[in-house]
Amino acid sequence: MSIDILKIDRPIWFMRQAGRHLPEYQKLRLRKKSFLDFCFDFDSIVESSLQPVKRYDVDCAIVFSDILVIPYLLGQGVAFKKGEGPNLERLNFKDLLNLEKSDYKQNDLNNSYRAIKEIRSLLNKNKSLIGFCGAPWTVACYMIDGNSKGGFYLSKESIKKNKSYLEALLDKIADVSIEHLVKQYESGCDTLMIFESWAGLVDSNKKKDILYKPVKKIIYELRKRMIKAPVIVFPKGLGTGIIDYSRNVDIDILSIDYDLDIKWVIDNIREDIVLQGNLDPELLVKGGEKLDQEVYKIKNSVGNRQHIFNLGHGLLPQTPVKNVQRLIELLRSQ
Ligand code: CP3
Repeated sequence: MSIDILKIDRPIWFMRQAGRHLPEYQKLRLRKKSFLDFCFDFDSIVESSLQPVKRYDVDCAIVFSDILVIPYLLGQGVAFKKGEGPNLERLNFKDLLNLEKSDYKQNDLNNSYRAIKEIRSLLNKNKSLIGFCGAPWTVACYMIDGNSKGGFYLSKESIKKNKSYLEALLDKIADVSIEHLVKQYESGCDTLMIFESWAGLVDSNKKKDILYKPVKKIIYELRKRMIKAPVIVFPKGLGTGIIDYSRNVDIDILSIDYDLDIKWVIDNIREDIVLQGNLDPELLVKGGEKLDQEVYKIKNSVGNRQHIFNLGHGLLPQTPVKNVQRLIELLRSQ
């Protein structure tokens, strides 16, 4: 058995470390025209997942993929236009809800699972390999609105006007995500992560049905299948609502965004939940003294509490490689 993230002493990794900001990724990326082709290509996955480990010697690799492979599997066209972000085909709720398992384009992920085996065999056994998916609400936001330009207006409206359809969609996404996480685990991922980037869009009185229920289902099913891999959840934008979230969803590791004050989080979140995050990615772009101060603040605040060093959201494309290198040196010299 390989090591999981909780068994590593003071681990360091970065959300969205593979891709975007790395020149070697930009070069590799040119080999494929479409981003999804890249996501489904064995060699591209293996190489891009390992690039940040080779460059920075971070403690974890995250499988190169995207949360939007799930809508693609469900038959919804997904395109990524340079500089514009994702663009999804118009969603047909009823057709989608009628899909059978045999209709899913699950085979397109076989290269991903083969790549995980390969990455695991190439990765030092003292490093963790993270598999992931998007949380159902966040994936549904892209499926319903098609893009992020309108602030997910249609998705928010669907909570008010079409809640039972929305809940059926969330349940469908949860089922496909469970299979995807199980396959990633069986292929060699020792840690699993669920990205809920748009948690902050849901009103308090709807969180139970829209946010908690689908993620609880995913974690419950993993445990039912005896998958003991630690689960990291990143519910972004909840503010003090993170307390209620952590009381309702059975999380091993809570990834906290950069809006939260780490001292407040430590005082308010149960001690048996391990924390990850919360450095502001903008500070890593700028570097310098402000970055150092914030890093010291995080390190001093966490004290003896188990903490995974990471950002409060993904690494930004304009992040200078030298700032990431310096940050890691700073952390390892302490
Ligand atoms: O290091 C890693 O984490 C690599 C794997 C990864 C990607 N996307 C690769 C990617 C992961 C874990 C994601 C998660 C993801 N994707 C999220 C959740 C995290 C978050 O940032 O909030 C979301 C919301 C998406 C959807 C998505 N994919 C968007 C909005 C975009 C366009 C903007 C952007 O991030 O660049 C993508 C494309 C994408 N996914 C790229 C990469 C490397 C850039 C595309 C390219 O290389 O041309």
